[in-house]
Amino acid sequence: MALKDKVLEILEENRGKSISGNKIAVALGMTRSAIWKAVKQLRDDGYTITAVTNRGYCLTSDNDILNEPSIFSYLETKQLGRKMDVFKTVDSTNNFAKSLAQLGAVHGTAVISEQQTSGRGRMGKTFHSPNNQGIYMSVVIRPKLTIDHALMITSCAAVAVAQAIENVSGLSCGIKWVNDIYAGGKKLCGILTEAAVGVEQGGLDYAVIGIGINVLNTTFPKELEDIATSIRALSGKSVSRSRLAAEVLNCLEKQLDCISSQEFIEEYRRRSILIGKQITLTRNDVSENVLAVGIDSFGKLIIRKDNGTEEAISSGVVSLNE
Ligand code: BTN
Repeated sequence: MALKDKVLEILEENRGKSISGNKIAVALGMTRSAIWKAVKQLRDDGYTITAVTNRGYCLTSDNDILNEPSIFSYLETKQLGRKMDVFKTVDSTNNFAKSLAQLGAVHGTAVISEQQTSGRGRMGKTFHSPNNQGIYMSVVIRPKLTIDHALMITSCAAVAVAQAIENVSGLSCGIKWVNDIYAGGKKLCGILTEAAVGVEQGGLDYAVIGIGINVLNTTFPKELEDIATSIRALSGKSVSRSRLAAEVLNCLEKQLDCISSQEFIEEYRRRSILIGKQITLTRNDVSENVLAVGIDSFGKLIIRKDNGTEEAISSGVVSLNE
């Protein structure tokens, strides 16, 4: 670990309080001038660290740069996020997590970035991922599930993320099948789950759950203005992104631990913003108007067509009719 990261760890442990340069130097076996240089580097990285004579350095409580020590301080998991890579920028955290998974990354490995240059959404879409405003996170999981149950991972994750956002921001969150979190009628978060099948065992080798949450955004590109929102835009509050990232992992671990019981489906149904509504369903470039009737026990959307026939679907794009 680089010296500046060790210094940051100590400052995080004492967030909001002053700690003398001498104390940090002794703890790390370095000189005070090396500590001063590390503090300078951290300031260049964007951290607000005050220095007061005779009191020392203080990482002010309003710092909100995503980093491991800060996320760890809110983490209550056994496995999820216990191995974590935090980046300033990356093409896509899902891409990075998938390469780690292929190299054998353990269950729970998390990849988090302040920015994505090629953030990906479902159906080949891009995911708007501006610097310092959201949480772009991917988690490698190795659940004992068959490929038929893979859809449940996304629904289970949607419940966990909705809970986490509610716990941290107080906003009440709905789910638009299959994986969008909505609040105030607009999209707050998208989830992209990508799974790989193990050829030998025939079941899932790993899945990568990619989660993108709009946290601090005050503006969106024109094409997203009417459909996307952020926690700050809705609540007027700036929640701590480190706390929210950790809470997503906390809730996700709890939900995944009992995924096979399918208990989360009840909550998924309660949060669904589609049930009982007329929707447009698009599959293979064909759109039809149908009624969303319910969610089955595997997370499939049950739709009723005008001719009265019902179908449980596992893929497609849906939108609410006006
Ligand atoms: C969607 O809305 O269609 C899903 C969006 C998923 C975005 C997240 S951000 C973190 C992870 N990395 C990606 O490239 N995509 C997912």
